[in-house]
Order: sequence, then structure tokens, then C-alpha cells
Amino acid sequence: MTTMTITKPMSDAGHRVPTPADVPGRAGELLASLGGRAVLCDLYDEVGATVYHDLAGTGTHEVRELLALVRRIPGDVLDLAAGSGRLTLPLLALGRQVTALELSSYMLELLDQRLAAAPPALRARCLPVRADMSAFDLGRRFGAIVLGTTTISLLDAEGRTGLYRAVREHLEPGGRFLLSTVDMAATGEGPAEVDMEIVTDSGRAYRLFEHWTPDSGSRTVTLFPADLGAPGDEGPVQVCTTTIGVLPAELLEAELAAAGFSVRSRHPLPAVGERHHDVLLETEVTP
Ligand SMILES: C[S@@+](CC[C@H](N)C(=O)[O-])C[C@H]1O[C@@H](n2cnc3c(N)ncnc32)[C@H](O)[C@@H]1O
Repeated sequence: MTTMTITKPMSDAGHRVPTPADVPGRAGELLASLGGRAVLCDLYDEVGATVYHDLAGTGTHEVRELLALVRRIPGDVLDLAAGSGRLTLPLLALGRQVTALELSSYMLELLDQRLAAAPPALRARCLPVRADMSAFDLGRRFGAIVLGTTTISLLDAEGRTGLYRAVREHLEPGGRFLLSTVDMAATGEGPAEVDMEIVTDSGRAYRLFEHWTPDSGSRTVTLFPADLGAPGDEGPVQVCTTTIGVLPAELLEAELAAAGFSVRSRHPLPAVGERHHDVLLETEVTP
């Protein structure tokens, strides 16, 4: 297993350090009430990556739908924004060669740990690569390129233009670009902010806020430890946050068409929490 650094230079974490102004709603109020105890981090930086992995790193959302599509597409797979390998490991289990591209070195470290615990034959088929999905050049092509978990919404318009260009340059003839996004048409009205407690398989408990007003065009997910300590406790409290653009499928489909891709099929995904429905798009370069 090799990890290489490719394309444009980036900071180690590749993410901006968030400020309290980035956290709206009741999460913002809870953050303010912690005063100097709060230590705010990005969900994909060193501390945040561990929290993300604990919370979602082994979840099964969209895995079944993705594997059903990839099974029908021959060739090697490129898993973009692979994180700690939530989708990479099931893709490897199909028997494919998988390149796992990820910007955060902390996420790649967690992926390395998972691969180290995996069967050697599976590990040998994986190539982790540290790179930016909006500007990469791996010098080869793939049968399938995957960008799951609505992660395209972490990119701005310029970043998406770079992504589409790079994907085109890395797809084999007849290859498929599979990506998921929010399906606004299937998403009903809901409260502006959802507040839920989550206990992970590791036994850790979090309080998760998701703040989203559809006209804002973005949603903010903020995580606190469920136990903030006894009154008077002065210890630090790690709070992780991320703001994600909401990119409706119609908008992405228009962008993809302009970038030379056609949508071959749309697959509704199970609802996420109380709020949104996602859709998995199967696209190809327009012949
Ligand atoms: C929502 S997570 C998805 C991880 C994994 N695919 C999964 O399904 O659990 C988003 C991932 O995108 C990574 N990321 C963010 N911006 C990126 C970029 N420009 N290039 C590559 N990876 C990026 C983050 O570090 C994070 O690991």
C-alpha cells in the first residue's frame, strides 16, 4: 500500500479552521454557553476525522445501491473523497482494484488503519492517494469513478468545474461517474434545525445538530459530546462542525450536461435522519 501526494499544494488538513460565527441556531447558542471551554474544530481535521469515523465511518447508507451499480461496470474503481474508507472497503470486497483519493491526511491515516486490519488480498488491491478531487492527475483511467455521501456539495462552483474536468480525463471509454446528492423533490418540509442524540458502536454519545433552511443553500452539522460535564466543570469541550452546500439534483444534472456528461439512471436512496432524501446518479461522458 502506497500513499502519494499529487497535484496542487495544500495545507495538511486542507480545511479552514471554523469560527463560532459558522455555527447557527441552537448549536450556536450551546457553543456560546460553553464560553472558553469550547474547542471548535472542522469535522475533517485531526480531531474531527476521528469523530467522523466513529460516527459514520462504517455506516451502510448508499452502500447497497452503489455496489449494485459498480458490479455492472467492468474495470478498476476510483473512490473520490474516500474518507476513512466507508465505501472503499465494500468496493474492495467486490474484488476490484480501488484507488482511494482523499484530501485529509488524518482521514487517510484512519483508512490505513482499517486496511491494516483487513485481509492481505483485499489490502493489496487498494491504493490510497492524497489529492484534491477538484484538481488531480493520476495518469490513468478507471471503469467507475465514485463520489458518494453527497460529498460533491463540499466543492464550490469552481471546484466542481475542476472535478468534472478531472473525472472526464480519468474515465475509460464507456466508464461511469457515480455520485450522490440531495433530492430536493423528495425532501419535504421540516424544522430548520434537528437536534438528536447518537450513541455509536464504540459506545461514545454525541449531540448532533443539523441546521438547514432550504433558501440558505447550505446546511451546518455540529457535534458536541452528549455529556458536557457537571455544572461548574471547567474542562475543554471538543465541538466539531462542517458547513455543506446543498446541491439539488436538478442543478447538478444541468452542470453535468454542460460539462459533457449524460445521466443514465437515477436511484433514490433511503432517507437520511428526519430531513433529506438523497439520490445516486449514474452518469457517463456524452458520446
Ligand atoms: C462526507 S465525507 C465522505 C467520506 C466517505 N466517502 C464516506 O462515504 O464516508 C467527505 C470527505 O471528503 C473529504 N474532502 C473534502 N474536500 C475534499 C477535496 N477537495 N478533495 C478530496 N477529498 C476531500 C473530507 O476530508 C472527507 O473525508
